[in-house]
Amino acid sequence: MSKKTTYITTPIYYVNAQPHLGHAYSTVVADTYSRFCKLRGDDVRFQTGTDEHGDKIVEAAAKEDVEPHQYVDRISAMFRDTWPPLDIDYDRFIRTTDEDHVAVVKHILQTVYEGGDIYFDEYSGLYCTGCERFLIERELVDGKCPDHLVEPKEITEQNYFFRMSRYQEQLIEHIKNNPQFVSPERYRNEVLSFLSDPLEDLCISRPTSRLNWGIRLPFDDNYVTYVWFDALINYLTGIGYPKGGKFEHYWAGAEHLIAKDILKPHAIYWPTMLMAAGVPLYQKLHVHGYWNVDETKMSKSLGNVIRPSQLVEDYGVDTFRYFSLREMSFGLDASFNSTAVIARNNADLANDLGNLFSRSVSMIDKYCELVLPKPDSAEADDHLQKASEEMISAYIVHMGDFKFHLGLQAVWEFVGAANRYIVQNEPWSLAKDETMKPRLHTVLYNLGESLRLLALLLKPVMPQTAEKMMSGLGIDPASKIMQTLEQGGAWGLSIPGTRMSRVANLFPRIDTKKQSDDRKERPKKAKKGDNSAKKAESQISFEQFKDIDLRVAKIISAERVEKSNKLLKLTVLAPEERTIVSGIAGSHRPEDLVGEKVIIVANLKPAKLMGILSEGMVLTAEFKDGDTNERLSLATVAAAVEPGTKIA
Ligand code: MSP
Repeated sequence: MSKKTTYITTPIYYVNAQPHLGHAYSTVVADTYSRFCKLRGDDVRFQTGTDEHGDKIVEAAAKEDVEPHQYVDRISAMFRDTWPPLDIDYDRFIRTTDEDHVAVVKHILQTVYEGGDIYFDEYSGLYCTGCERFLIERELVDGKCPDHLVEPKEITEQNYFFRMSRYQEQLIEHIKNNPQFVSPERYRNEVLSFLSDPLEDLCISRPTSRLNWGIRLPFDDNYVTYVWFDALINYLTGIGYPKGGKFEHYWAGAEHLIAKDILKPHAIYWPTMLMAAGVPLYQKLHVHGYWNVDETKMSKSLGNVIRPSQLVEDYGVDTFRYFSLREMSFGLDASFNSTAVIARNNADLANDLGNLFSRSVSMIDKYCELVLPKPDSAEADDHLQKASEEMISAYIVHMGDFKFHLGLQAVWEFVGAANRYIVQNEPWSLAKDETMKPRLHTVLYNLGESLRLLALLLKPVMPQTAEKMMSGLGIDPASKIMQTLEQGGAWGLSIPGTRMSRVANLFPRIDTKKQSDDRKERPKKAKKGDNSAKKAESQISFEQFKDIDLRVAKIISAERVEKSNKLLKLTVLAPEERTIVSGIAGSHRPEDLVGEKVIIVANLKPAKLMGILSEGMVLTAEFKDGDTNERLSLATVAAAVEPGTKIA
């Protein structure tokens, strides 16, 4: 059976501004989707690039006092250099100044012209330089362009027009018959609502007397092509239209990714252009929302523009990739703030995933000399396997639907299940009993297998982390079981006897204090009521918690300590007998305590209090009795619980 093809594109970014968080997000999403489709088994092509024509570019070049071509070379290179540190693995970086693109734009213009869908006409209208287009009256707010807040200029010009109106009904039909054509649904509805009014034709030329920087019309040398008509065609050029070997192959699987700002050109201009050129329509348009920064629109004038290089430096590439995909519900706006990134790093990545990985590998090291043990076939743990299967099916559906946050949520449910599996099975207790060795081996194998599946599923989102995990698990990334979900998604493919290795912490915790000191020169508005980072800061890892030996202790005698108003000397069974000195004399009479079952920290370093060696600490809760009296209440357990029982 031949593979499904997927051709995913990002917008080609304008070179009038430097790359920022918004560009980084779209490109990370496209990269993740491309890697996910490969994992699903598709034949994938991924394209990004830069949009380099138009009067905005001429203005930006003039500000720097350089020629447009010098200017676009410089900024385009900045975009190109932005992607490797974010692990963006594209197949083509296209520029609208590339020779093949210029040729394809001319070819399409000629085809549409000859088909009778381009005509010459005089036009008077309100032109906004910021938008690089004529605006219609109803788009204005208080007589101004709502995006650039300036009054558009009245211009009369002779120009070429694309007969877009001719395709209005055909487009409405197509959108109605293909619910997936524009998604999420809110954007599909927005497009249909726009199309409920008559569509005007599109002015697709600019006289060279006004703008010289662009692609000349093949049928009139006095005009250059309108920048949107030029830019959208990049999606065809990049795969060899019209006759390149790859064109038909990849175009059949074309999916565009954009943000809501450029919905109209992509959902209206582009499909009608394709109809007029006789090219089949793309398959899907995926539209995401906008990132704000600390709830505020990102803008140069506010000084809150976040650069991709800063993101990598501050948080690390995989933390940024994970955060942006986990935090934004695709289609809606989201707010970026460093507190939220750090909270996700410390909780989801360092605590949940990082600890699961390091604990599992270190137990396989401790009990099996770092070699994956053979599971006992009679000892299968179906529920863990079932949880992994549920994760994989949810992941495939959600990632394929651009619901990345739900895909990751499904993965983290499994991370939680694997962490609970450790607690429930206590490999450290199994290791103490020689007869439990087969069981211990099963538990450790299942952990190794869970980690392999996690590495496989996380590869599209966090490629570097997945590689580190594979290296720790001793799995060759080129191995069949790590190539596609089909080859590697089944439970039980890890090979017993595989030599593993210790690798560094997957995700070091990020110290909020250090971060804020490092970032002092870039002040940030703290999000009101957001104390998630503080919470993450005070969290301990499961490793740390596990080190605290909490046990049930039965008090068998209690007496006052001489010369002390506060201290009682308790003799307890936990299950062995020991002495604990506790500061509860102000709240409890010794005679009331005998027979109580309390909770103690059993592995606290012994210390002498008033000359008596205390071997542990009794847990209490402090409360106020009346306005002033501080009192202590012992933490107790039900009478039926055996002394010495571990609290977990
Ligand atoms: N050159 C056109 C696109 C032509 S595609 C044929 C253009 N360029 S742009 O540089 O302005 O990029 C717009 C795109 O950048 C958005 O659609 C989105 O992908 C990304 N983003 C820019 N700012 C953004 C946010 N604040 N948040 C999320 N993404 C945003 O339009």
